[in-house]
Amino acid sequence: MPENDVESDSFDVLPEVGPDGLRRIFRRHAAAVAVVTTTHRGAPVGLLVTSLASVSATPPLVSFNVARSSSSWPALAQAEHIGVHVLEAGQEELAVRFASKGADRFAAPTTWWSGPHRTPVIHGAAAWAVAEVEQQVPAGDHVIVVARLLWANARDEADPLVHHDGQYRQVSGAAVPPENPVGSRFSVIRASPASAFEKISEP
Ligand SMILES: Cc1cc2nc3c(=O)[nH]c(=O)nc-3n(C[C@H](O)[C@H](O)[C@H](O)COP(=O)(O)O)c2cc1C
Repeated sequence: MPENDVESDSFDVLPEVGPDGLRRIFRRHAAAVAVVTTTHRGAPVGLLVTSLASVSATPPLVSFNVARSSSSWPALAQAEHIGVHVLEAGQEELAVRFASKGADRFAAPTTWWSGPHRTPVIHGAAAWAVAEVEQQVPAGDHVIVVARLLWANARDEADPLVHHDGQYRQVSGAAVPPENPVGSRFSVIRASPASAFEKISEP
């Protein structure tokens, strides 16, 4: 057997990976927390996503996935323009509001303004953009939305809010030292809002 072959019995969720297997995989995946917005029949609509991804530089495309079962999907399905917001560390309450069923997500304390194409732009994000929807690609129980950034801005000093292992967290560790690219990987993630530090990897 070649050295890099993996014993088949080390895959305890195979041969069939269902929803629980997928969730287990993605509990190990740290993702930026983002809010996607649009206007529908004159009212602001938005939801929290961790599926925001950079797709293309030329043209500047992003994607995110929306559950067909989401209360926001009927609005997003018709949206020509959307707002994309990468949340900053400290915006956990905003994140919870935009993931809570039935919440009035745009009521105070959320502060927002009507941006280009009447797209709701939320104050205080680490980065935000208004984008034009280019494609909707059906994918299982979700739809992948691809959108082209038209206007964008970022606060370069802002720390991101991430979601990992079922919790919102702030990245507060040092970057991997560039002088030792293969060893000494050490960073710290702080579960928010608890003060305890959790070491997630070391040499
Ligand atoms: C951490 C986290 C990440 C989420 N990511 C997504 C996502 O990428 N796509 C999606 O459609 N919903 C996602 N959701 C769920 C939406 O925020 C959803 O709108 C919310 O649970 C409320 O449901 P409703 O839209 O039906 O009212 C996520 C929720 C949480 C807590």
